[in-house]
Amino acid sequence: MESESADAFAAAFTLHNFKEVVRTQLLEQISRILKKGGLFVNADILTHDDPIKHKKDLEDQLRAFDIFEKLGHPELKREWIKHYAEDQKNKFTEAEQIFLLKNNGFADIQTVFRKRLEATVTAVKK
Ligand SMILES: C[S@@+](CC[C@H](N)C(=O)[O-])C[C@H]1O[C@@H](n2cnc3c(N)ncnc32)[C@H](O)[C@@H]1O
Repeated sequence: MESESADAFAAAFTLHNFKEVVRTQLLEQISRILKKGGLFVNADILTHDDPIKHKKDLEDQLRAFDIFEKLGHPELKREWIKHYAEDQKNKFTEAEQIFLLKNNGFADIQTVFRKRLEATVTAVKK
């Protein structure tokens, strides 16, 4: 995309899947293509920076997958637990997200939502 051509970038449950080096390259590109005043929104699996809170968040999240047993789909519980275990090897932390935004010329960085591991971060391109 052309530099300074986009009004907004939004992603949902995707960036945490990328390796850290790819996230770094991607944020550089997002910064390049956004217009001044352009909006960044990322709703994602973002690890809490406090390891004790993260441990509790993760345990609560894994317990929440019990719902799939009640719904008669234990295979979905197994698959989700497997996916979250994979994520633990390549954590995208809230601190990394904020660092990447600060480093790439974003202001007004806010975590506007968090429930367990899920968080939404917004920012504005300076
Ligand atoms: C949970 S889905 C979210 C899709 C969509 N944003 C939504 O909210 O419905 C995660 C997406 O990330 C993509 N994905 C996972 N790992 C990826 C990778 N390493 N490179 C590119 N895309 C990836 C998957 O193909 C999938 O489309």
